[in-house]
Amino acid sequence: MSTIWTPNSWRKFPIKQQPNYIDLKKLSKVEKELSSYPPLIFAEEARSLKEKLADVSNGNAFLLQGGDCAESFNNFNADNIKSLFQVMMQMAVVMTFSGGKPVVKVGRVAGQFAKPRSSDTEIIDGVEYPSYRGDIINDIEADVNLRVPNPKRLLKAYNQSAATLNLLRAFARGGMADLNKVHSWNLDYMRNHPLGAKYEGMACKISDALKFMESCGITSKNTPNLNQTVLYTSHEALLLNYEEALTRKDSITGDWYDCSAHMLWIGDRTRDLNEAHIEYFRGIKNPIGCKVGPTMKEDELIKLIDALNPDNEAGRLNLIVRMGADKIADHFPNLLKKVESEGKKIVWSCDPMHGNVEKAPNGYKTRDFDNILGEVKQFFQIHKAQGSIAGGIHLEMTGQNVTECTGSRSSAITTDDLTSRYHTQCDPRLNADQSLELAFMIADALKEAR
Ligand code: PEP
Ligand code: CO
Repeated sequence: MSTIWTPNSWRKFPIKQQPNYIDLKKLSKVEKELSSYPPLIFAEEARSLKEKLADVSNGNAFLLQGGDCAESFNNFNADNIKSLFQVMMQMAVVMTFSGGKPVVKVGRVAGQFAKPRSSDTEIIDGVEYPSYRGDIINDIEADVNLRVPNPKRLLKAYNQSAATLNLLRAFARGGMADLNKVHSWNLDYMRNHPLGAKYEGMACKISDALKFMESCGITSKNTPNLNQTVLYTSHEALLLNYEEALTRKDSITGDWYDCSAHMLWIGDRTRDLNEAHIEYFRGIKNPIGCKVGPTMKEDELIKLIDALNPDNEAGRLNLIVRMGADKIADHFPNLLKKVESEGKKIVWSCDPMHGNVEKAPNGYKTRDFDNILGEVKQFFQIHKAQGSIAGGIHLEMTGQNVTECTGSRSSAITTDDLTSRYHTQCDPRLNADQSLELAFMIADALKEAR
């Protein structure tokens, strides 16, 4: 690996999962334009997230990271953004109130557009097309022309990210996160639902506590922590042309930050030690993540940690374990033992989504809720046995009432139900009640670990 890092030094390295742009002149024109646009985040915010993640690595907070598998240009509207915000607030309040830990909220949002794919082409209704690689690259419609990678999509992704982030900041700061509104975060379709009722019960206890505090003079008017929150943004930094164009030197510290999001992560398919994504990530100072799938080897993981976090800085590196419910018990304990024995400071989180994808008999790509719960439970148990910290959860989820993942105790979605409201651009997401059920289960695990 070269010692001199620049925002474009990744270009000298082999790279996987990239679009094959035909018009390179148009691409470089777009990159130039993007690099003149304002950054989407401020470096100081990335530093404050890093501090909060350091608390997570010490067991003093819990990380909730969630959002779409892939954001979409077509489903871009205020309702989707608002319902994601509300479900994340509900989950966070459940984990804080019942689990007793502050929750660091990070959306897979405002930039989560580029997707790695298992093959360069896909068959739709018997016809072969170039694979859909996310709205920042090509169109999901089965049309050979629209599947050609179009550089202009980078600009549209930037603009959509800016508008999304703007609304999220307004919700977080403008009163939507006020704890006095804890009842209103329950989404309409959840109100008559057993889990919605369970949530309501907890919300009543919070309201009582707030009334008591109010009589002691502590109100959301004089205590901003009661009426404001911070929701950070993150995405897989797969398309490095986009990330490079938004990489800026911080005027305060002189360090480089990827200003497309507060936190970025490397996918399981592009984490090769000698390739472009590791080169790019080692030079940015944001908090970063890296997916850890079942093929990861112990020595490889130590080298990866040393390349990405050479100073062993707490809060810098989030390892997102995504093995699958049937593999985690075989693969994770030894990896964890090795990393802990070397004294590495890691934010360990569990992605129970990407190792549990299956094809339903009717052809739909789905995930079974029992496998998702099963992987999360094992993740907590393995950490408990090791004496290490289960720091967070990484989910593909939505506030919409979709039927994409089967199962759950509260709203048993069957394989047949998948056809009813299956709207994802890519992988199946948890809906609001599945997300809430998971949050209650995690809250119990957190309480037990205290
Ligand atoms: C993802 O998080 O959307 C993803 C593609 O995950 P992974 O890299 O773990 O497969
Ligand atoms: Co996915």
